[in-house]
Amino acid sequence: MSRPNIILTGFMATGKTTVGKLLAEKLGYAYVDTDELIVERSGQTVAGIFREKGEAAFREMEAAVSRELGDKEGLVISTGGQLMLDAANAAALSRRGRVFCLVATPKEILQRVQNDKDVKRPLLEAPNPIQRIVELMQQREEYYSRFPQMVTSRKTPEEVTRNLIDIFQAKPDM
Ligand code: S3P
Repeated sequence: MSRPNIILTGFMATGKTTVGKLLAEKLGYAYVDTDELIVERSGQTVAGIFREKGEAAFREMEAAVSRELGDKEGLVISTGGQLMLDAANAAALSRRGRVFCLVATPKEILQRVQNDKDVKRPLLEAPNPIQRIVELMQQREEYYSRFPQMVTSRKTPEEVTRNLIDIFQAKPDM
């Protein structure tokens, strides 16, 4: 495979979008964000899709995007926080790509979610969002842990990007 895709997974607000864009720029790859693609195609925000069509419809859209992107090369793909936890999505995207899971603490995640004025996370619209983050993380931990982990705590997005490039270039075909 000449230019295997790089797929970023991990909990909401672990930096997948920011790091993914930097990674693509540094590697000369095209950048794709699955949430953005879904928003573009449906003409609705993620929160709007959840509200009007329901979560199941959003998960269907994620599955369709995964099948489509799995056939391509030379992409950095930032995925919505749950997309790669679905076995069929993970199989489709892993076929031509290396997956990395970005990791942050619940406190950092809450801070980033609160600072992100552009994107609403419907799953975190709860009376006690930190508790909700911890609960969801616990439910998903086993699945995220199947992918190589990249800790982002106390690192700038540039440092995380550099760390990922070092790993990726050490064994680009893995
Ligand atoms: C979700 C994560 C979000 C988005 C949707 C659901 C999740 O993407 O796909 O709100 O279930 O973890 P980010 O991980 O980019 O926030």
